[in-house]
Amino acid sequence: MFAATTLSGTKPEQYRQLADQARALLHGERDRIANAANLSALVYHALPALNWVGFYFYDGKELVVGPFQGQPACVRIALGRGVCGTAAQSGKIQRVDDVNAFADHIACDAASRSELVVPLFLGDQLLGVFDLDSPEPARFDADDEAGLAALAALYLESIG
Ligand code: SME
Repeated sequence: MFAATTLSGTKPEQYRQLADQARALLHGERDRIANAANLSALVYHALPALNWVGFYFYDGKELVVGPFQGQPACVRIALGRGVCGTAAQSGKIQRVDDVNAFADHIACDAASRSELVVPLFLGDQLLGVFDLDSPEPARFDADDEAGLAALAALYLESIG
């Protein structure tokens, strides 16, 4: 049985510990839904000040909500729409300190104040996005961006 341990040390150290836990959690399983579900749960419970952690998958036309932790979410997001659709279309991580100042932000949970979205690509194929929301403004800094991008990479490795 997998057991998460408390994170300690500097933020980069904590993300390295979380990456080790994610590696152990995803090891030996290649199912993209199973691994997305378990990674969402791991991250949601390990990191402070989050109100939504989860995945949207690209169905060939738009993003469709996948496994997540948090309040029920918007089901479909067009490419180029919202923070998620922008990450998916541009292929670039979106780190938004104030979602209310992001012109096209899609409010699924009114409590969300800041957001980080990592686009997921298998080769040049868009798979979807890994999305994190926080009730705190500017919750995500450069260390979070690097740490969560590394976790997204572990996820892609696990299903690739
Ligand atoms: N805020 C996102 C929508 C997804 S939810 O945050 C779960 C966006 O603007 O794309």
